[in-house]
Amino acid sequence: MTHSLTLRRPDDWHLHLRDGAMLRAMLPETTRHFSRAIIMPNLVPPVVTAAQAVAYRDRILTALPEGATFEPLMTLYLTEETDANDLAAAHASGLIKAVKLYPAGATTNSASGVKDFDKVRPVFERMAEIGCPLCVHGEVTDANVDIFDREAVFIDRVLDPVRRATPGLRVVMEHITTAQGVDYARAGGPDLAATITTHHLVINRNHILVGGIKPHYYCLPVAKREEHRLALRAAATSGHRAFFLGTDSAPHVDAAKEQACGCAGCFTATNTMSVLAEVFEQDGALDQLEAFASLNGPAFYRLPANDATMTLTRGAPVDYPAYIATSDGPVTVFDPGYPLHWQVD
Ligand code: NCD
Ligand code: ZN
Repeated sequence: MTHSLTLRRPDDWHLHLRDGAMLRAMLPETTRHFSRAIIMPNLVPPVVTAAQAVAYRDRILTALPEGATFEPLMTLYLTEETDANDLAAAHASGLIKAVKLYPAGATTNSASGVKDFDKVRPVFERMAEIGCPLCVHGEVTDANVDIFDREAVFIDRVLDPVRRATPGLRVVMEHITTAQGVDYARAGGPDLAATITTHHLVINRNHILVGGIKPHYYCLPVAKREEHRLALRAAATSGHRAFFLGTDSAPHVDAAKEQACGCAGCFTATNTMSVLAEVFEQDGALDQLEAFASLNGPAFYRLPANDATMTLTRGAPVDYPAYIATSDGPVTVFDPGYPLHWQVD
């Protein structure tokens, strides 16, 4: 049995850092293990303009823990009013690495998202020209589409038509949760990729609903049937270039999750690398963890992989905190439901 594993230092290609006190509490949880992260722009108000992205990046850099070397990779939140020139300049200067598409109403703080995809077609065309990736929250929001079908329906009704209409548009399907998502991403060629979260490799919908409702397993897109979790596991552990880690670590204080209308989001930044090593070991694929967590993401984003390395060692069950304290209250850390044996050195 392998007892030690060294890989290039990983990056997180989908992360919610929030702002203010929450940002300060959350940053060390990510900077401890990750060199870079794609920072989600769904603040209140959202990060819509280059000027807002500069200001948010400055707040992140100011809040970095002492001695941390961490690069926040900024994104803009796409609205029907997004100015393609502002976006193109922000991309050309290196300020932003991607643009995030939220269908209006799909998830936390998505009210300013896109309702009419035709309205943003000129922006998609500009993004295709300049090679700026579009990170897509891929769920339809129609009230009459079942929540468990919303990803598959989005691929057929929105994503595939947009990609056909905009050749060259580079797309990351964020946090895929279905076999349909896996199949579509795998077949999409070099301009298509998909992030997979830590928690969707571990839980299916039974974990949320059987034996009492588990608010800390509720996130969007919601976890699906077991067959879908297995498809995600096969994709992540395959080493295929189209699949890489985006934790979608999305902190909400416990009081906001444990209530009659609880917020969506699993908080996994703290123990993600230990969970992933356990998962890849269970599937006999430890040799593919580096591709998933450290190589495929930078390759898609046309950035170098990190030079620094990380070593994980197998041993007695890892101690990790049950929650992270913030001045707004505790944030529960994702519990995979089994002990973790891989400790980051
Ligand atoms: C995210 C959040 O809380 O910002 N929640 C989640 O369940 N993933 C939003 C998102 O990525 O959908
Ligand atoms: Zn997210």
